[in-house]
Amino acid sequence: MEKQKYYITTPIYYPSGNMHIGHTYTTVAADAMTRFKKLTGYDAYFLTGTDEHGQKIERKAAEKGVSPKAYVDEIVANTKDLWKLMNIEYDDFIRTTDERHEKVVQKIFRKLYEQGDIYKASYEGQYCTPCEAFWTPSQLVEKDGVKVCPDCGRPTELVTEESYFFRMSKYQDWLIDYIETHPDFIQPASRANEMINNFLKPGLQDLCVSRTSFTWGVPVDFDPKHVVYVWIDALSNYISALGYDSDNDELMQKYWPANVHLVGKEIVRFHTIYWPIMLHALGLPLPKQVFAHGWLLFGNDKMSKSKGNVQYAQPIVARYGCDALRYYLLREMPFGADGNYTNEAFLTRMNADLANDLGNLVSRTVAMIEKYFGGVLPAWTDAVDPEVDTPLHDHCKALPALVEAQMDKLQYSQALAEIWKVIGECNKYIDLTQPWVLGKDESKKDRLANVMLTLAECVRFVAVLIYPFMPTTPERIFAQLGVNDEALKTWESLGEYGKLPAGTKVQKGEALFPRIDIKKELEALNPAEEKQPEPKKEKKQEKKEQKKEEKPEELPEGLISIDMFDKIQLRVARILTAEKVKGSDKLLHFSVKLTDNEPVRSVVSGIAKFYTPEEMVGKQVVLVSNLKPAKLRGIPSEGMILCASDAEDKVLKLCTVEPGMEDGAYIR
Ligand code: MSP
Repeated sequence: MEKQKYYITTPIYYPSGNMHIGHTYTTVAADAMTRFKKLTGYDAYFLTGTDEHGQKIERKAAEKGVSPKAYVDEIVANTKDLWKLMNIEYDDFIRTTDERHEKVVQKIFRKLYEQGDIYKASYEGQYCTPCEAFWTPSQLVEKDGVKVCPDCGRPTELVTEESYFFRMSKYQDWLIDYIETHPDFIQPASRANEMINNFLKPGLQDLCVSRTSFTWGVPVDFDPKHVVYVWIDALSNYISALGYDSDNDELMQKYWPANVHLVGKEIVRFHTIYWPIMLHALGLPLPKQVFAHGWLLFGNDKMSKSKGNVQYAQPIVARYGCDALRYYLLREMPFGADGNYTNEAFLTRMNADLANDLGNLVSRTVAMIEKYFGGVLPAWTDAVDPEVDTPLHDHCKALPALVEAQMDKLQYSQALAEIWKVIGECNKYIDLTQPWVLGKDESKKDRLANVMLTLAECVRFVAVLIYPFMPTTPERIFAQLGVNDEALKTWESLGEYGKLPAGTKVQKGEALFPRIDIKKELEALNPAEEKQPEPKKEKKQEKKEQKKEEKPEELPEGLISIDMFDKIQLRVARILTAEKVKGSDKLLHFSVKLTDNEPVRSVVSGIAKFYTPEEMVGKQVVLVSNLKPAKLRGIPSEGMILCASDAEDKVLKLCTVEPGMEDGAYIR
């Protein structure tokens, strides 16, 4: 039977600098999914690559005194080394400077132009010459009556540039309908509402798709003064790599449409608005899904070099191995939500999940088989204790399906949680069955045999199932368990429980993940912190006491201090649902979302005379999020939505933030 196809992609990364742990996150996720699909019998194809054109790279190369190509070549080489280090097995690595890609981009551009989707027009806007960038009115900063560049603060000038534009607006209604009738297309679903309410319904602007102000790009072949600008070039990679519109489009026939494009949440818009429109205009089917994952944050901030909080994978892998980092990235936060990276959280998880739970289970199991059976697996006996054995056997048998169900939803963290539940149960099973007691009594040998076999078989299941996430650990476990037969390492082999044959010789090995001293490791990982002496205890005490004696600040009447203001938490919240409160003509009841990690809140607000529930859904509002919860007409209200109103309360308008701010953001 022909295998089912599965095509997965990562974004193609800008090689303006070396890839950090954020880029590593997406790529590890794509790799784990590919491995999982291959394990479960799919013909999976995994594409990644680099997005090498544009002004930023042109400028970086000039700063370094090298050609743009030489500049990106070096970073691409580092990127490929990093993927090797992370055990990433991609099927293809596309570079937008590849000739195969450039040719396809030119063909696509020409086709869209010839069929009237792309047109040439003049673009007028405020331009910053030193930065070579146009700025929209809302981006510009007004200084002494002059519109200055928000980046460098220098004055901008009104400039007219000739560009090609993509008639996006033509496809807007089609796309709204497509998204609404294909609920799986954009995941998580909240992102689909965001796209519809924030971008599609307000009306799509035509998109500028060429530039004449720089040359590091794919030239428009029928008008070489222009280079193709950013998104047509970048997005086309997903099909140019498959040989679309080339002499050999075998892969295109085989794998398109993609099953899933993995993207960070900041580029969902490009993948769910521009890309579907481009594909539709080209007469191609759309990818089945675009999945937007969250960001790895550092102390609640996105990583950036200027903030000095960029974390790279290499030092972590060098110390703890790539499987530990892969595990952490996939386990720590639900795919779709943001999460903080800290060395401490990483090390804590290493100790708890890898050293304690998994590592101990394997070493205890092997050590006990050595101790009680001379290292040779006995045969199953009829000394069963159904009350203790059956739940674990059943759970273990059900595990592959549980993991698959989570992976089908790209819920890596939940898939791992399912595996770790069985690991936890095994550790409990050891406590319950007390092999050390059974081992003392020769008449209990049959029972002990079953206990050992149960543990060894569960460990085998776990080893097979963790492979997509931690590709090098299973072999280390199999070596200790004495599993040499490749047929016992497959997904199919999990269709039957109890396959480990009697006579298998176990072999104690090194601890899979030795327990670490977190404090010491933190010092090694954060040498800067090590240098900061801890304040002496007495000094701390002194400070506290000084504070106690300080008089509260005296404030002119009506004013509050910055500390008082700081206590009020104002956050951007998204309205998920809205309905009228029965029996009230003033109140609306909302469910509102902050970040994906936080529970949805119930909020009641007295704005029913000014807004209908329908027009509220999807809006971003400003929420006082640390207000003491109250009940209004018996409905809990966990926050207050801010509005502006006139003196007589006849006009009321919601406070909101400009588009583009993520849900949950703090207003300060
Ligand atoms: N070149 C574009 C994408 C074009 S795709 C047709 C681009 N490149 S990028 O180098 O900025 O990479 C962005 C991607 O890197 C994100 O979408 C995400 O997948 C990953 N990440 C970068 N920083 C990240 C975090 N801090 N956390 C999680 N992922 C992050 O945008």
